[in-house]
Amino acid sequence: MWWFYRKGPSGFSGASTAEEVTAGADGRGLVAVITGASNGIGQETARVLALRGVHVVMAVRDVSAGIRAKEAIQAEICGGAEVDVLQLDLSSMASVRRFATEFGSLNLPLNILINNAGVMTRDCTRSCDGLELHFATNHIGHFLLTILLLENMKNACQDSGIEGRIINVSSSGHIMTYPEGICFDKVHDPSGFNSFIAYGQSKLANILHSNELSRILKEEGVNISANTVHPGIIMTSLFRNRTIVNGNSQISERPCGQGILKRYRIILQVPMDCKLCR
Ligand SMILES: NC(=O)c1ccc[n+]([C@@H]2O[C@H](COP(=O)([O-])OP(=O)(O)OC[C@H]3O[C@@H](n4cnc5c(N)ncnc54)[C@H](OP(=O)(O)O)[C@@H]3O)[C@@H](O)[C@H]2O)c1
Repeated sequence: MWWFYRKGPSGFSGASTAEEVTAGADGRGLVAVITGASNGIGQETARVLALRGVHVVMAVRDVSAGIRAKEAIQAEICGGAEVDVLQLDLSSMASVRRFATEFGSLNLPLNILINNAGVMTRDCTRSCDGLELHFATNHIGHFLLTILLLENMKNACQDSGIEGRIINVSSSGHIMTYPEGICFDKVHDPSGFNSFIAYGQSKLANILHSNELSRILKEEGVNISANTVHPGIIMTSLFRNRTIVNGNSQISERPCGQGILKRYRIILQVPMDCKLCR
């Protein structure tokens, strides 16, 4: 496990916590949208950004879970935290459009967009728009959301002079995909479905999205960076539909994410660093 504690050029290691990485950062005056913020990595991201003074908008599928997460954050942060909860189902393009309209009606600038939410399923499931669920949720929903919020982000960075940040939470699982890369036919065709590859290609799409967006933003001279991050392997409910091999080499039906790490600290290297601060 030595490599887990080995510090990289940033001065942080795989064992660094989100609080450590953001120590000294002042996020007051910034607004962040975080998808999938009601649990797992998204919840910890929301908590730590709020701790640093960022106004956090939690974009969640389950509003009551979102409100519970918001209350937990507000109870912890002395002096209060600015946190809103809005409903968002990334697997539905109509829901993404609704979210963008509702966010617009809050009249907030947007400085940070963290496209974090994700699914990992075992079966071939279709979204309400008829797309393979991994691709619909992990990529298409975030792709559309980014397009719908980009104008706001451009205005916010122009008005504030602070670099905007778009962060797509991808995965090292992006390497497990079709030999030809993204296979768009498989987004419509359930035959020969492989859940690892379906997850992998949605995560590859997150990276390609960031790369191309980054290129376009640079070309336009817009002060917004588009980034992708692999957060490390963390036992969360992402793995609820997965089984693990137990010590007797039998398949255990116990989902990986349950009860193993309750109050973990998450590695967060991209969402916030001192460059964000004024
Ligand atoms: N954990 C890891 O080891 C690991 C490794 C590499 C990459 N990642 C990536 O990290 C990100 C966060 O995952 P996590 O580990 O924190 O998993 P998690 O605890 O399961 O959180 C995923 C979040 O996404 C939300 N979500 C799922 N489908 C959604 C939809 N259709 N619309 C809106 N929100 C939806 C979930 O909401 P519900 O609670 O309503 O389902 C949940 O809040 C994911 O993109 C994942 O691929 C995780």
